[in-house]
Amino acid sequence: MPELKAAAIVLAAGKGTRMKSNLPKVMHRIGGRTLIGHVLDCLAPLGLARIVAVIAPGMDSVEKEVAPHGVAFQAEQLGTGHAVGSAREALKDFGGDILVVYGDTPFVASATLQRMFERRKAPDSPAIVVLGMRPADPSGYGRLVLGADGTLDRIVEHKDANEAERTIGLANSGVMAIDGSVVWRLIDRLDNKNAKGEFYLTDLVAHARKDGRRCAVVEAPHEELLGVNSRTELAAAEAMFQARRRFAAMENGATLTDPASVFFATDTRIGRDVVIGPNVQFGPGVEIGDEVEIRAFCHIEGATIGNGATVGPFARIRPRSIVGAGAHVGNFIELKGTELGVGAKANHVSYLGDATIGAKANIGAGTIVCNYDGLNKTRSIIGAGAFIGSDSVLVSPVTVGEGAYVAAGSVITHDVPSDALAVARAQQVDKPGWATKFRAKQKSKKKD
Ligand code: UD1
Ligand code: CA
Repeated sequence: MPELKAAAIVLAAGKGTRMKSNLPKVMHRIGGRTLIGHVLDCLAPLGLARIVAVIAPGMDSVEKEVAPHGVAFQAEQLGTGHAVGSAREALKDFGGDILVVYGDTPFVASATLQRMFERRKAPDSPAIVVLGMRPADPSGYGRLVLGADGTLDRIVEHKDANEAERTIGLANSGVMAIDGSVVWRLIDRLDNKNAKGEFYLTDLVAHARKDGRRCAVVEAPHEELLGVNSRTELAAAEAMFQARRRFAAMENGATLTDPASVFFATDTRIGRDVVIGPNVQFGPGVEIGDEVEIRAFCHIEGATIGNGATVGPFARIRPRSIVGAGAHVGNFIELKGTELGVGAKANHVSYLGDATIGAKANIGAGTIVCNYDGLNKTRSIIGAGAFIGSDSVLVSPVTVGEGAYVAAGSVITHDVPSDALAVARAQQVDKPGWATKFRAKQKSKKKD
């Protein structure tokens, strides 16, 4: 039997009124990734022929987020069935199965969707496979009404359900895999004569049954199918995501001193024997090598931390930064677009912006690399083994050669040759006995 080729339609045109937000709901983030981004990540391993997101006009940010996948516009939110119908034009030359998922249901697992496709391919070839769940409280959800043979007869929305139907614990998650050869004909038959006055996607099941086709249910845990409708639900989903990531990090050989206060992004990668202290947050794009220690209160995003490096406490590492193997980033250090070489040290209170710092260089306390002149950003280079004295300012772009010294308190405005000493501060002047005379004068004034 040939592989069933499938396309996915991601429904995301809903306003998400309960979020009380200027952002489209699916652009809110969990683990640094948008809700719809999570859904796309889950679809990625399925080898789908096409992915189309259904959005409302003006949702430009969503259009950008889903690129290179396409979008279809649904001008008015007339219901989930109408939303799927809106993607018809975009898929008109596509004959394969249609998988419908929601953009606000971020945790659906690829393996679950795979099970739905497998069910579709079974010998009884159900026209529609619906993903069901059994929430502790199913009220509000559509209910799956099964026939005597255990296959799916129809879906009844909560608002349209009678008392007996409302006792059904098996609820509709909204995810469906639909036979591509009948999907558009079934969509054409939907009407909006129901409690909400909407074109329900769920009515496809009853129409398929009228045509003598079977429909089937595949079940998944409710936690996998949580939808996000409000900020409270967003926070709950974030908590669930973080709990899973903390568990995975520890299972993979990281020590988390206080797991509950460490926050990961979807793409955080961690090596072995990494120790992460309390109150650490990872933004997107972080890769941590083996045997790294991240001490308390660090914020790290878009950075690579080499094997055996130590970071923090209280360090901020911003995007496009690389901390070399065995390097030390101490307290109150900010790195931005900066590469700190192998074994280099920046231990105390510094801003190092857009700099390339060589191996084993030592950056003194209070050093600032001024990368911005109010108009342009420029880079500075500090050679391997260079020593930057405390409280120095490097006005970019400058190069401090290998092995050079910069005297404490210097403001460096031009290049320093390798192995030289640069002193760029006023010379110290000593006036012997000045203080004694000064105090005597003050004393005589006071008597008057
Ligand atoms: C839907 C299901 C219900 C199921 C529940 C699971 C229908 C009729 N009902 O109900 O059986 O238990 O999901 O959460 O399908 N959307 C659009 N355009 C529209 C309407 C909705 O794009 O015109 C999108 C929304 O952005 C959302 C998804 O479709 O991502 C679901 O819509 P929503 O209104 O939340 O459906 P429910 O009424 O909750
Ligand atoms: Ca909903």
